[in-house]
Amino acid sequence: MTLFCLGSNLVIWWKGKDLNSSSILHRLYRLILLLPKTKEKLPTHTQFLLYLTRMNRDSILTFLKQWGFTLLIFLLLIGASVYGYVRITSLNQNIALLSNRVNSLETTLDTTAKTLEGSIKETHTSLSKELSQEKQKSSAIEEKLGGVEQEVGSISGTVGTLEKLSKTDPELLQKYSKVFFLNEHYAPERLVEIPVDYTYSNTRAEKIHASISPRLLGVMNAAKAQNITLYIKSAYRSFEEQKSLKSVYSVTYGSGTANQFSADQGYSEHQLGTTVDFITTGLGGELAGFETTGAYQWLLNNAYKYGFVLSYPQNNSYYVFEPWHWRYVGVELAAYLKNQNKNFYGLDQRDIDAYLVKIFD
Ligand code: DAL
Ligand code: ZN
Repeated sequence: MTLFCLGSNLVIWWKGKDLNSSSILHRLYRLILLLPKTKEKLPTHTQFLLYLTRMNRDSILTFLKQWGFTLLIFLLLIGASVYGYVRITSLNQNIALLSNRVNSLETTLDTTAKTLEGSIKETHTSLSKELSQEKQKSSAIEEKLGGVEQEVGSISGTVGTLEKLSKTDPELLQKYSKVFFLNEHYAPERLVEIPVDYTYSNTRAEKIHASISPRLLGVMNAAKAQNITLYIKSAYRSFEEQKSLKSVYSVTYGSGTANQFSADQGYSEHQLGTTVDFITTGLGGELAGFETTGAYQWLLNNAYKYGFVLSYPQNNSYYVFEPWHWRYVGVELAAYLKNQNKNFYGLDQRDIDAYLVKIFD
């Protein structure tokens, strides 16, 4: 109220005149002070101020009763406005601060993201390189291992071959027939009897090297399946048996003739247990004439498949042509001789020896 009065005085001073009954300010005074509407001359400004200073307790109470509530609302509105203004200003400031902070954080985040991206790319490149190097190393190791494995395989293969060789009778592929000699104690490691159905004689048992027996029966069964009749006339002969036989032949035909078709003891392939003389029907039990038979032709065409070769073909250097006399040398060597149209005794012993390890394959 005091401020109001002071303000009014300032206006009046500025206008340079006193209040009159028609002035808005005067009317406001009257309204505020609850002056009765009167036609009387209203108090001057000075009088109004004096009136105010003379306001007693009752007049203040009356004023408050009539205008207190409105004044309170007015003050509350003013207060709320001021509070709102202050709050809004403060919030704006906070918003500005937060906005700045967000901007700053966004910048930091952007920088950090870029840094991280760069770092990740670098790490990725570095890891890729390392991985590639490791892969190369791994390949190199694998290659080396492969080499070692191959070497081990080759060594174990060699060991296997040597072991196989050590268990194979080296005499089995030697050239006898006046070249190599088997002493009187030599005999195959194991001999088995040939079933009587396969032998020409029903009374004299014939024996064969145990490992060759299945091949011999195989070739004879194959022949039989094609209506070729084959019998074994003679198979294993010991040193002593060969000696007796040669002796008989020498007495009968003379040693010169006997030497052309019969080996001396120690030089016969029959002592190896790998060799047989075949016979067939229609020859009166004789070997002579075997070359004219279907059995001989069949053997020429098929015996190699079972590992048998003709030892003494026509015009050989050792004996007369012996179409009945077949020696087991192994399927591989027999096939080689057949394909090359070569004779066992025409090969070098060194070349023959290479087939020893495979003789029973
Ligand atoms: N008939 C051959 C050569 C031998 O007696 O062994
Ligand atoms: Zn013979």
